[in-house]
Amino acid sequence: MSDFARHLEQWHHDHGRHDLPWQNTRDPYRIWLSEIMLQQTQVDTVIPYYARFLERFPDLPAMADAPLDAVLGLWSGLGYYARARNLHRAARIIMGVHGGRFPDTAQGLAALPGVGRSTAAAIAAFAFGERVAILDGNVKRVLCRAFGIEGFPGQAAVEARLWSLAESLLPEKEIGAYIQAQMDLGATVCTRTRPACDRCPLVSDCVAHAQQRIADLPTPRPRKPLPSRSVRVAVIQSADRVLMERRAPTGIWGGLLALPEIPEPCDDGRWLLSRFGITARERTPLQVLRHAFTHFRLDIHPVHFKVEQATPTVTDGGHVWLALDRLDEAGVPAPVRRILTGCSGTRPVRPVRGLADPDRHE
Ligand code: ADE
Repeated sequence: MSDFARHLEQWHHDHGRHDLPWQNTRDPYRIWLSEIMLQQTQVDTVIPYYARFLERFPDLPAMADAPLDAVLGLWSGLGYYARARNLHRAARIIMGVHGGRFPDTAQGLAALPGVGRSTAAAIAAFAFGERVAILDGNVKRVLCRAFGIEGFPGQAAVEARLWSLAESLLPEKEIGAYIQAQMDLGATVCTRTRPACDRCPLVSDCVAHAQQRIADLPTPRPRKPLPSRSVRVAVIQSADRVLMERRAPTGIWGGLLALPEIPEPCDDGRWLLSRFGITARERTPLQVLRHAFTHFRLDIHPVHFKVEQATPTVTDGGHVWLALDRLDEAGVPAPVRRILTGCSGTRPVRPVRGLADPDRHE
């Protein structure tokens, strides 16, 4: 037997859970019902629902005969209602297609609606003693930590590796106890946050513990690349002042002063200027700045305009001329400040194409 299985079984014998309502039975109906309820749901939540279900539907024919609404009604509050629909559908399939006899292998069980590979294995192990591996979220966490397995466990290649590992660790006998031990260890000791390593039977061989990487394993789901948007903004400069726009109170940079946006698609900026009665001598594209918000990236394309006449008055309330040496006090977002620092004082505006700070996050 693997050390893993031996340590786990010993621990379960001394510290595991032995009197949950769905234990100490080999009735596949009761075991199936409990395993479906326990998907994504904690033991304490399931216990009263399980009792009510068995009272109302003591066996498979009772559930198959009941209308779907009766099953949904009793499920009410447990969440993930597809589980209840699949439960009812599976009950009717077992009655109608299998003559009322539960499939007695993990493979047969996995063909029922709502019964995935791991749930099928748990039912087959508990009810029929079949020597099959389970791989639910708890077991994945235990294996990733104990064996130092990198990569998000939901990724196909990582999951395939975990299944092989889980199969290679199976003991020859007492499969039900071993599987219950895995579930209990994941639920009560090797928890997602603050695991109780001081009480863990696997700690002496645990790779994550030895390398102090408990908090890093399992590897979290990779972040999706952020969608990107782009916007053109006008840097309308009159001597040492720039025309700023007060942003709407909600949305990005809500209430802050930022550069006026140049509407897409056909305005080259001059239409925007004409709104303020401004004429500009030069129109210079500046370096593009990429800014990462939480949910998207924004590529800001600034276009610089040098105002020809004396600073025009703006009267619409939403716009102000802001002195370039007052950016810090005025509530200007950092990326906008970065664009404007090139415009102040004696430093010339740098008309550069390309991306600035492509990976900067703020
Ligand atoms: N989670 C899934 N199946 C379980 C079981 N049989 N006992 C405790 N928790 C579980």
